[in-house]
Amino acid sequence: MRRKIIAGNWKMNGTLAETEALIRALVAGASNNDRAQVVICPPFTALETASRLLASSHIALGGQDMSPHEKGAYTGDISAAMLLTVGATYVILGHSERRQYHAESDQLINAKAGQALAAGLTPIICVGETLDEREGGRTETVVGKQLDGTLAGFAADNLKKIIIAYEPVWAIGTGRTATPEMAEAVHCFVRGKLVALDRTAAETVPLLYGGSVNAKNAAGLLSQPNIDGALVGGASLKADEFIAIIKAA
Ligand code: PGA
Repeated sequence: MRRKIIAGNWKMNGTLAETEALIRALVAGASNNDRAQVVICPPFTALETASRLLASSHIALGGQDMSPHEKGAYTGDISAAMLLTVGATYVILGHSERRQYHAESDQLINAKAGQALAAGLTPIICVGETLDEREGGRTETVVGKQLDGTLAGFAADNLKKIIIAYEPVWAIGTGRTATPEMAEAVHCFVRGKLVALDRTAAETVPLLYGGSVNAKNAAGLLSQPNIDGALVGGASLKADEFIAIIKAA
């Protein structure tokens, strides 16, 4: 049995005051569950505050991106070691918003994931097709290529440490979610790709679904055999909604 993982991607939201209020509400409502691993990913500037507030809870912390380099002259970038020093143990990589607005390639995401694994962070690698790609019947081709590129060169012991998030771009922030059956079909495809890389690792890698997950649709999605959790955007900014999703797991 793979333990469920519910991760909140706050994106570019969360002043320190907002971070404090939201985390206090989450800790009060969801920190003592032992069914799901909860991870929240606030912006870099809120990580240290978040880490302090989460110190005595079971909620883990993640970054939303990181540099493919260890350190040096990379203005504006944040390294894996920096994330670790402020208490993050996870990092989201290759989110479609990074791919779209920062032209991130599979090759770059692969380099970032390698750096994260070397430092001891758990990468949450995002893949997903656009609406055009889905309607053109190219979902598996697109997701398959993203997996081949982002996971290139990883041996079984590294594969075992990653998390994959399937996030159809057309479902992100749109209120339009994949049905549990649609999501499960892609998750099965992803699992199959992982099996081809390493059968044992494939069984343990958590596959998260993301894209307009909310308190109402979470239970249906999370009941699918290959949906091991959720990567939640908008709904992770509302304590009640996020706690309800955690409870659904
Ligand atoms: P959403 O975002 O839940 O707001 O659709 C999900 C994500 O981008 O990770």
